[in-house]
Amino acid sequence: MKSFAISEEEKKASEEFMPINGTDYVEFYVSNSKQAAHFYKTAMGFRSLAYSGLETGNREFESYVVIQDKIRFVFTSPLKGGTEIGRHIDRHGDGVKVVALWVDDARHAYDQAMSRGAKSFFEPMEEKDKDGSVVRAAIHTYGDVVHVFVERKDYNGVFLPGYRQWNSDYQTESTGLKYVDHMVGNVEEGHMNQWVNFYEEVLGFKQILSFDDKDISTEYTALMSKVMSNGNGKIKFPINEPAPGLKKSQVDEYLEFYDGAGVQHIAVATDDIIKTVTELKSRGIEFLQVPQTYYDALTERVGEIDEDISALAKLGILVDRDEDGYLLQIFTKTVQARPTMFFEIIQRKGANSFGKGNFKALFEALEREQELRGTL
Ligand code: FE2
Repeated sequence: MKSFAISEEEKKASEEFMPINGTDYVEFYVSNSKQAAHFYKTAMGFRSLAYSGLETGNREFESYVVIQDKIRFVFTSPLKGGTEIGRHIDRHGDGVKVVALWVDDARHAYDQAMSRGAKSFFEPMEEKDKDGSVVRAAIHTYGDVVHVFVERKDYNGVFLPGYRQWNSDYQTESTGLKYVDHMVGNVEEGHMNQWVNFYEEVLGFKQILSFDDKDISTEYTALMSKVMSNGNGKIKFPINEPAPGLKKSQVDEYLEFYDGAGVQHIAVATDDIIKTVTELKSRGIEFLQVPQTYYDALTERVGEIDEDISALAKLGILVDRDEDGYLLQIFTKTVQARPTMFFEIIQRKGANSFGKGNFKALFEALEREQELRGTL
């Protein structure tokens, strides 16, 4: 593993040409938006926020927006055949289409990105309704994923123009998920550096960490990863590519079933991982399990921690330490029909890294799942 210091000047330079306030929303193209939204409410503790569809005059697609603290997810399905959304779902299955970035000036962000080599998805457009106006523009990134720049400083509505409040009698308790910590992309073998360069050149991100196959390998599989971050550190995008191994790696399996590059996992932060994971489990979310022997050597590896290790062991929560502190993390099994996207639940206690000390135990757990699917 290598980490890279970012100087104050570099942070400032990145902040100047591409200031990003944070993740605005994540939009998934799914085969049944209504049922997907119900799953995220019931199992993960999101609340109904907004809706667009036939009742709002939208005859093309139906979108349900859910929210939990700072996290907004949009689930979109087409209302007829032969659409771009339908083709996306046919090829990829359910998956992330849009990683939207909250900016103060969407036209500026788009112009800067385009002048630095981005490929346009759509040009800046201003949408209005009685609650104000929103400017959005979008560029392509890896695979069929796009980044939408969202400028909402003149908007007081519930989500975006064209959406109405989604009032539902059915709401569930939060599971304590607070914000998107990082989102990981899987790209084809040999393409990682191309996308690292894209985030550097087009969006002014800096590489903060890299892992090679010596860090991330088991007996069978290997991958390489570089972590890209924007100036204020609010956006972190690790990019993975498969490295040659004895058998098919988890990234290879993803690329095969997603039919190309795409978002592999979304890490969501909590302030109390024991409480969050206990709640998620009780609602039916399934997690990868590491052997109990993982906990035998835990204190030796990470030193003293605030949490009760037997509680962590019972839930299968992993711990890692870096020079700044420690972190707790756990990974769900994949959450749709295809073995593609999954979630990470993470609680940071000072640490700014990604749990390198857990990679081996984790990958072995992943491979046990792959073995069951016959895709190793
Ligand atoms: Fe992660």
